[in-house]
Amino acid sequence: MYRTDIARPIRLTDYRAPDFVIPETRLAFDLHPTQTQVKATYRIERRGAADAPLVLLGERLILKTLRLDGVEVAPEAYALTPECLTLSGVPDRFTLEIDVEINPQDNKMLEGLYMSSGRYCTQCEAEGFRKIVYFPDRPDVLSKYTVRLRAPKAGFPRLLSNGNLIDSGEEGAFHYAVWEDPFPKPAYLFALVAGELDVLEDRFVTMSGRTVDLKIFVDPGMSARAAYAMDALKRSMRWDEETYGREYDLDLFMIVAVRDFNFGAMENKGLNIFNASLLLADAQTATDLDYERIESVVAHEYFHNWSGNRVTCRDWFQLCLKEGLTVFRDQSFSGDQRGHAVQRIKDVKMLRARQFPEDAGPLAHPVRPATYLKIDNFYTATIYEKGAEIVGMLKTVVGAETYRRALDHYFETHDGTAATLEDFLSSFEAVTGQDFSPWLKWYVQAGTPVLSLSATYDGDTQRLTLTVSQMTPPTPAQAHKAPVPIPVRLGLLSGAGAPLSFRFAGETVPEALFVLTEARAQWVLEDVTEAPVISALRGFSAPVKLTLTEPEAHRFARFRGDPDPFNRWEAAQSLAKALILDPHGAAADYAEALRATLTDPTLDAAFKALMTGLPTEMDLAQSLTPVDPAFIHTRRKAFKAELAAALKTDAEALYAALPAETTFSPDAASAGRRALRNALLDLIVAAPDSDADRSEATSDQAGAQAVRRPEGEAPLERDAAKPLSAKQKIAKAHYHDARNMTDMMAGLSALSQIHGAAYQDALEDFYARFKSEPLVLDKWFAVQAACPHPETLSRVRRLITHPDFDRKVPNRWRAVAQAFAANNPAIFHDASGEGYAFIAEEILSVDRFNPMTAARLIEAFGGFKRYAEPHRGLMQAVLERILGTEGLSKNVAELAGKALAG
Ligand code: PHE
Ligand code: ZN
Repeated sequence: MYRTDIARPIRLTDYRAPDFVIPETRLAFDLHPTQTQVKATYRIERRGAADAPLVLLGERLILKTLRLDGVEVAPEAYALTPECLTLSGVPDRFTLEIDVEINPQDNKMLEGLYMSSGRYCTQCEAEGFRKIVYFPDRPDVLSKYTVRLRAPKAGFPRLLSNGNLIDSGEEGAFHYAVWEDPFPKPAYLFALVAGELDVLEDRFVTMSGRTVDLKIFVDPGMSARAAYAMDALKRSMRWDEETYGREYDLDLFMIVAVRDFNFGAMENKGLNIFNASLLLADAQTATDLDYERIESVVAHEYFHNWSGNRVTCRDWFQLCLKEGLTVFRDQSFSGDQRGHAVQRIKDVKMLRARQFPEDAGPLAHPVRPATYLKIDNFYTATIYEKGAEIVGMLKTVVGAETYRRALDHYFETHDGTAATLEDFLSSFEAVTGQDFSPWLKWYVQAGTPVLSLSATYDGDTQRLTLTVSQMTPPTPAQAHKAPVPIPVRLGLLSGAGAPLSFRFAGETVPEALFVLTEARAQWVLEDVTEAPVISALRGFSAPVKLTLTEPEAHRFARFRGDPDPFNRWEAAQSLAKALILDPHGAAADYAEALRATLTDPTLDAAFKALMTGLPTEMDLAQSLTPVDPAFIHTRRKAFKAELAAALKTDAEALYAALPAETTFSPDAASAGRRALRNALLDLIVAAPDSDADRSEATSDQAGAQAVRRPEGEAPLERDAAKPLSAKQKIAKAHYHDARNMTDMMAGLSALSQIHGAAYQDALEDFYARFKSEPLVLDKWFAVQAACPHPETLSRVRRLITHPDFDRKVPNRWRAVAQAFAANNPAIFHDASGEGYAFIAEEILSVDRFNPMTAARLIEAFGGFKRYAEPHRGLMQAVLERILGTEGLSKNVAELAGKALAG
């Protein structure tokens, strides 16, 4: 890895329209593992100043020839640097031919053209096209592509690119295919794939009656595992027609699954490329969570066909124009498929787990950043998830029908163009006649607003006065914030927990929507018959932190019976948080309320499963300053044990009443039942062993001393002669009786919580069964890296010497490094600093060949200033060490630098 230039920030305010447009692009690829020849022919037209030079971007390319209108350009007529090719004095209209050579085999950054499992594939978003050929690689240069692929027939029977196949043929031992995409597109949506692939085929008839061929290409022998993705694709296509009036536009839609991929999946026009982990599934190899993700990512990439491809982004600062909107669309789709309450809770959990910490730390950035070094670093939870929240709030305030009209307006007005967030907001203005400029603040201000609410009730007048105020804390480079519009859905409960209606704006209502636009406001609710329990921010109507001072009893009332399922869950979570972080917090009342929930026949299983889960250690870390990871781990474990002990009989009875299903169906209701059964298992194994168990069984080494590192290597607890405790038996049986991967992983992870011989045996069994299944083996690595036992510190070091470990495959690397850094806070934050050192070494190793993937792990150190010593100092030292490393990539340098400075 070398640093090609001095890092120079790109700024939104520097945006200038391109000087040249390229209405037509022809590409010819002669595919070869180390010497692929790329021949590009562009029809170019000047749009800018008469003396503007033509600047084409290109990296790691060997320039062979350059011809302008058929005449070779002499070397003195152009300038070549490691990042661009500049031609001065070019005419206003001309044809440019460029021949370059590239090396896909050596490309381990997985950007541009690379090889994965012996196949050629591409990844061009955001700036990968310039690693294929010289081009004005920016999203506002839209071009019509014709692509010719040529490769040996042997080994590369499939030759795929965007659009429609218009020609194909043979040339001796070689063959070729010519693809034409009739829709002008930015270079980041270009794709090609060549190799041996099986295909699963289907068809979809669009709303206007056109038949679209659907093809999913996978590793030979795997096409049955694409069935669920295909089903999800057809449902997505129908949903986008019914919900947004958006019809698919080509006669062919293809998806290819690859093993080596930096992110989840990519929306290349007509040829989506997926990380295989987000496409392949069957009962034996995929969990319900995998199915859920496959459904949502297939939908997400498909929805991009309109929100991203037909209407694309003017520049990368507008990334959330396509990503925020598309995430909002996929979340709505998943809600329609699986139930809105449960979906909303999961989406908010994710937002809080990933976006809130980002927004509160040194890596905080606005949904539309003002500056960046590497745009790859901005594929963040803020751009995606907070971006989606903004679209959701807009829909909440204008209502579903107006929202649909605004979106119709947006798609129709900007079809075929590269748009901005202002364009998006102006569609809302166009259909409502109102000013939406205050909403721009959500896009340009970083930080999570804090919404404070206090209430005074006057029994004589039956009036409730709510005083609300907002404040967004300072973030790096943004000291002062303006108020943002905050929609607040609000209802009331009686002291006994029954819904309480009230009068607002002349009407009697069970709930109302308020929008706080100023720093402060007062809302008066009339006809409130008793001093109420306030249920504010229902459905999490805005991505803010709510502070509401109220008695604990009010939270219990909402926990027991808020008609808004989100707030019911929220009440439980906030109670659990408070009780866990209080060294004297007791679980008895909480257990009572949870028992009532678990035994309520009107609630569905998926919701009960969510109610059973306690806040994670990462959630808790956000509510404690300074963060003490050992305290959090110990307290959470103790609270969970107390809760589990109080609910032992109920949990075991409920668990027994939900026998494992013999046939597997991935539908939401079945998945919900499995989720509940597995949540109960998790609770059951958290209970302390009874005295009888304790006297005869293996000691629980992961107990109270979990955060202390034992002297030297932890022993491997392999004493098979020791009898198993009751809960070990349950977890072991759960694992061995499992008929699907969901139950199997739940069993394995329960065993990992208990640790001991049964866990070791299960790991060996699992490996033996799945050693030839890479996606399943990723889970095997991940479960070990996330095991909250001190022994994991030495185990992760052993895992990276395992013959199946491969840093060059992002999925495998993340299964160890990311699982450890992000899902195992107690051990990652071990006071010895060994967890930090391990992750730092991993980041530096991967940065040498794949900076984009390496940089994403810097996030693990992002919040170091919030931590207590010795963590804070140790993390800071690690960041300094990373930043001082010779030859660091721009990607890692940007994030490590920000993390330290923030
Ligand atoms: N645009 C992809 C998505 O749908 C994400 C992605 C970005 C994938 C960059 C690869 C590289 O969100
Ligand atoms: Zn996307």
